[in-house]
Order: sequence, then structure tokens, then C-alpha cells
Amino acid sequence: MFAAPLLALLAAYVVSTLSHPLNHASQKEDLGSKSLFPTPCFPALDFHKPLFLPKDNTQWWCDPSTEYAFVGFSYEVTACQSREQLHKEFKDIRDHFKSRYVRLYGACDREGFYDDIVDAAWANTLGVHALIWFGFNLDDIWIGRRDTLLAALHANPRAKFVTRVLQFGSEPLFDGVLPHDQLAEQVLLAKANLSSLHIPVTVSELAFGYQERGGAQDVLDAIDSINIHMLPFFAQDASTADQAWPLVQRDLQWFIDHGDGKKMYFDENGWPSVTSPSVQPNSPLAVADIPNEHEYYVLLDQHCQDLKSVVGGGVGWFAHIYSDNQEPGYGIYNANGQMKFPFAPRTHC
Ligand SMILES: *[C@@H]1O[C@H](CO)[C@@H](O)[C@H](O)[C@H]1NC(C)=O
Repeated sequence: MFAAPLLALLAAYVVSTLSHPLNHASQKEDLGSKSLFPTPCFPALDFHKPLFLPKDNTQWWCDPSTEYAFVGFSYEVTACQSREQLHKEFKDIRDHFKSRYVRLYGACDREGFYDDIVDAAWANTLGVHALIWFGFNLDDIWIGRRDTLLAALHANPRAKFVTRVLQFGSEPLFDGVLPHDQLAEQVLLAKANLSSLHIPVTVSELAFGYQERGGAQDVLDAIDSINIHMLPFFAQDASTADQAWPLVQRDLQWFIDHGDGKKMYFDENGWPSVTSPSVQPNSPLAVADIPNEHEYYVLLDQHCQDLKSVVGGGVGWFAHIYSDNQEPGYGIYNANGQMKFPFAPRTHC
């Protein structure tokens, strides 16, 4: 005789689905861990998987205004991690650091790779900022990647429940891979392709990438959220990370002025602990070391309220990047898998 309790659970689920996610979050706090009812707002830190997946994702995601402060990591996939490694590291990303998202970086062209990402993300309650990777060779390889990823998003029935947004990146404007009007057209085509799945589309880009293309307002108008590369180490007036807030504000203000109030993320966001041939400062005073890498995240934590109050529901930030094995000097972990500094950023304030 379990029909009645099941029905009660189902009813509670339907009711909570209809209530506003923000209200829901506060109810949930009151109930604490004793709650019997699944939390339908994905990927909140107190989310519990529902008994049944809803028929679509229109009531699925947490309200964007809850997605400020630290939201997760950039995670480079060029190594084509095994399914097992994805599960292990996504579990660490969720459980150890209280992440809600993984932002993919780089590309793995192994068949079925995005299915492995979906599987590991679902298992660990992580949303994904998926990525069509252009690379740095200014070739057409991204077209095949686009088609493969779009097809995977349609074919995998769970993909729309973990894929928060599809990005074109990284820095296609800054790198000049496509004229801005063609990039805007690609965004619109991808949005049309994904409209039945309700998966939004964006571009992962620096403020400078837009600015050097005359503002590329067509791209800003086309994208659903603004996924910002915030890398103040490269500013011409950079010094130490604890002095970086005005540099962050300067780029952020440009997006506030031109972004029409859209939700914003710092999706490629960090400060390097070492320089390398591809990581060279534009200021003689810029300091790359572990204390400054750490200090940049401390700075963002200190400005949690400022970032929360930004138009569009506040700025959610990713730490770039999970491991030094993925991008030298930017990792939270070093190449031996040890944490380079204490890292437990705020997820709300
Ligand atoms: C979306 O794009 C993929 C890859 O090009 C294609 O296979 C699929 O048919 C498209 N779907 C829609 C609805 O446009």
C-alpha cells in the first residue's frame, strides 16, 4: 500500500514546482535536512532528484537571481577524460567545493563524449555550460563540433536537464574567428535549433573582444546570457590581485551599459600563479604568484554583495580553472593534485 504516499510526494512535487523558486529556497531552509520532498530547482545545493523527470525543463532551473557568487569551475576537456575520471572530478567539484555548475573549456572530439559529460553532471547534480570550441587555428573544425553537440543535445534525453546554456567560444571575437555579424547569425541559428529543448545560447568573450569589434552589439543582442571573460591580470594597469576590483568593475560596467540587463556570469575568471608563453601581462607591475591567484578569489568573496546586486540577477562566477593540468598556473589544484591555497568561496551572501 504505497500508492498514497507516492501520490502525496507527487502532489508536493507539483505544488513546489509551481511555487516561485526563490520562495521555495526559503521554505527549504526552514525544513532543513528533514524535508521529505524533492527540491525541483536544479542545480541548487539542496536539490534532491525528483522521482520522475518533468516533461520539459521550463520549470526546472533555479531562478537566475539565486545564481550569484561562486557557481563552479571552468573545466578543460582537451584531455578527453574517461567517464570514470569525469565522475570522480565532478563529484569533487560538487561535494568538496559546493559547485552548481561546470563550464566546459577546450574540446574533446571523442564519439559520445558529451553523453559522458551529461552522465557525470547528472550523477553529481551539476549544471553544464556547454561549449562549441573554435580552437586557435582559425579553421572550420568548429562547424563539425557544433553539429555534433547540437545533435547530442537533441538525442540525449537528459541533456536538456543539465545543459544550462550553450556557449560559442572561447573568445571568438578577440581571436577574430568570425566577423561579428556572422557570429551573431550563428547564435541565432543555434537558438532556433535548440528552441524546442529550451536551451539558451551565449558567447564566451572578453569585454575587449566586443570593444575591438565596434561593440558587436548584434552579438550582445543575440545572446541569452552574457558569459564574460574576466581576466584582470592582463589589464594594462594591473598590479596585484587585491587592487583588481576597479579593473573588474570597469569591464563589468561596460556589459551593464550595453547588455540590456541580461544575466551575467564571469565564466572564464581568475588570476594566474605563473606566467607562460601564452600568459604574459600587459602591465610591468602585474604579479603572478600563488598568493595573488588566491587573493583574486578573496576579492570576489569580499564583493559578494556588490556582485549580487548587479542587474540581471547578480553575477555568478566560475573559477578558471580546476587544475594546473588543464591550464598551467590557473588551477585550484596543482599538477600533483594538491590544492595550491585554501578555496571555499561563498555561494551566497
Ligand atoms: C539541429 O542541428 C543538428 C546538427 O546540425 C541537426 O542534426 C538537427 O536536425 C537540428 N535540429 C533542428 C530542430 O533544427
